[in-house]
Amino acid sequence: MTQRPIIPFEEIGEETLGQMMKIFYSKVATNPILKPIFPDDLTETTRKQTQFQIQYLGGPNVYSEEHGHPMLKARHMPFKITPERAQAWLECMSEAMDEVGLEGKIREVYYKRLVLTAHHMINAPDNDEEVFE
Ligand code: HEM
Repeated sequence: MTQRPIIPFEEIGEETLGQMMKIFYSKVATNPILKPIFPDDLTETTRKQTQFQIQYLGGPNVYSEEHGHPMLKARHMPFKITPERAQAWLECMSEAMDEVGLEGKIREVYYKRLVLTAHHMINAPDNDEEVFE
């Protein structure tokens, strides 16, 4: 008998994921170290990030169908992603997970993966104000 693989996107569900992304960006919008690098209107950012997370979690490739290959590190290059910002980003995500009640193994695995991706995005040291400006 063959078992269907567990698809995190299906376990979490599109509605919860969408809710989580809205909560996440409401936190980014008020975070003093993240806010300066994000646009004031986060509607489009939220939409793109939700599309990305759907495919990151094994759902349909809705991000790539509209925007092409994610090339995440390259797309983050215009912004100064310091270790401090990566930490703040992950904290906003962790709080958003709490608020939608995501828990257990799925949360643990998802969060660990986000930690790796967030660390991969780092492209500037802390307190490096002149780079890219
Ligand atoms: C490490 C801390 C991070 C910071 C500070 C950060 C910051 C940003 C900023 C400033 C944008 C541009 C927003 C806009 O102009 O609309 C962006 C876009 C994006 N980020 Fe991040 N990001 C981080 C980590 C991540 C991670 C870990 C992921 C994926 C797991 C991710 C996925 C995306 C995606 C999909 C976009 C949209 C790209 C596009 O324009 O199509 N980011 N991020």
